[in-house]
Amino acid sequence: MISRSLPVRPLRAALSAAATALLTLTALAALPQTPAHAADTLGAAAAEKGRYFGAAVAASHLGEAQYAATLNTEFNSVTPENEMKWDAVERTRDSFTFGAADQIVNHALGRGMKVRGHTLVWHSQLPGWVAGLGATELRSAMNHHITQVMTHYKGKIHSWDVVNEAFQDGGSGARRSSPFQDKLGDGFIEEAFRTARAADPDAKLCYNDYNTDGVNAKSNAVYAMVRDFKARGVPIDCVGFQSHFNSASPVPSDYRANLQRFADLGVEVQITELDIEGSGTAQATNYGNVVRACLAVTRCTGITVWGIPDKYSWRASGTPLLFDDNYNKKPAYHAVLSALGGSTDPGGPGNPGATCTATYTTAEDWGSGYNGKVTITAGSSPISAWSVNVTMTPPQKVVAVWNGAAGWDTSGNVMTVRSTHNGTLQPGTSTTFGFTAQRNGTSTPPQLSACTAS
Ligand code: G3I
Repeated sequence: MISRSLPVRPLRAALSAAATALLTLTALAALPQTPAHAADTLGAAAAEKGRYFGAAVAASHLGEAQYAATLNTEFNSVTPENEMKWDAVERTRDSFTFGAADQIVNHALGRGMKVRGHTLVWHSQLPGWVAGLGATELRSAMNHHITQVMTHYKGKIHSWDVVNEAFQDGGSGARRSSPFQDKLGDGFIEEAFRTARAADPDAKLCYNDYNTDGVNAKSNAVYAMVRDFKARGVPIDCVGFQSHFNSASPVPSDYRANLQRFADLGVEVQITELDIEGSGTAQATNYGNVVRACLAVTRCTGITVWGIPDKYSWRASGTPLLFDDNYNKKPAYHAVLSALGGSTDPGGPGNPGATCTATYTTAEDWGSGYNGKVTITAGSSPISAWSVNVTMTPPQKVVAVWNGAAGWDTSGNVMTVRSTHNGTLQPGTSTTFGFTAQRNGTSTPPQLSACTAS
């Protein structure tokens, strides 16, 4: 027995070692390919996804050290918030002043950032002299304005909002009344785009609007115009979706589908003025959803947030941006970075301070089954992801899980639930996930263990 078993042991050991090595190789091969160091800024993370991540910038703030530092660190595209508008660059007819806009463009290009041009033809921030012109003079002034401004910035602007907000709100899908619409008729948009193409053939030419973010009468009207332009060869390359959201105008559930239908017309789609009023996890979730929608649409080429710290937002009281008044990164920032695939480690390598606690309650109980609710609360450091083990007593069975991603151990009794969109928590703040269980005759409540955070 001994003599026969001796050679068997090394053989078994060798086979076992080979099998282990093979399994390890197989497991390694199955790991997703991730960069050695996940990007830890918005711009770098977006770039790894082939997108830009920009901010609207005001020239008057560039001298503020923290403002400039945040811009330079986090963003790789800028949009002048007001400095390229008609009243800023041609307040007096044929007298062009580019000083403030140049300041932004030079700041950006000198640091390797791209620039979006905003905006050439818009009913707002329009000097009075333009509104006072008759049709012939207005046509000439519009084309001259487009040509002069685009020529000044030729080769420096990746995308121009050629025409901004030309459609009415509400259900009609009609054009908005403006000096251009009222005196030149529907054809003014086409004329503006043709003039723009001639002025800078390399710039992407966009139509930009708000309340067109979901499928509705207004976006349908824009869609019909873009489809018509593409069919007739009118030069248009992109559609901008401003994406100003708040409780009265939330992120539409068909946001991604709407972006996709425009992209399917053969144009780029860009999220051009993103801001979402709110705070904490609700705001973070919305931001993450917007970013994921863009990433899901191949032709969604970039995202611009409409400002850097909340205090400089046009909707400052709604705290709609990614940085608070002191330039601290908000939960929304971490949600965006995470959605972009960047480093979700707000505490530095390993985020050693990250902790969480989990508590269980039964939310609804109908005898044969119940809905369990688990509340996860971050400890004294911000966290960007969590996981909790939920042990079920057989033959109880979990049949649904929401606001978390569930996996099971081999016994089938221990469910590990990981954060999905709701991993980012500021110290002391909470989120929940839920599940439905069938009792199958056993009433023992679920046991929670191992809340871990990173
Ligand atoms: O610079 C003057 C200052 O000298 C003066 O003392 C002050 C008094 O009101 O006004 C300052 O100008 C303001 C300017 O922003 C710069 O802060 C204007 O009044 C104000 O009307 C202007 O608001 C801008 C708004 O467009 C005008 O329509 C916002 O900053 C800008 O964020 C906003 O951006 C628009 C996009 O272009 C198009 N989509 C909607 C978006 C939000 O409204």
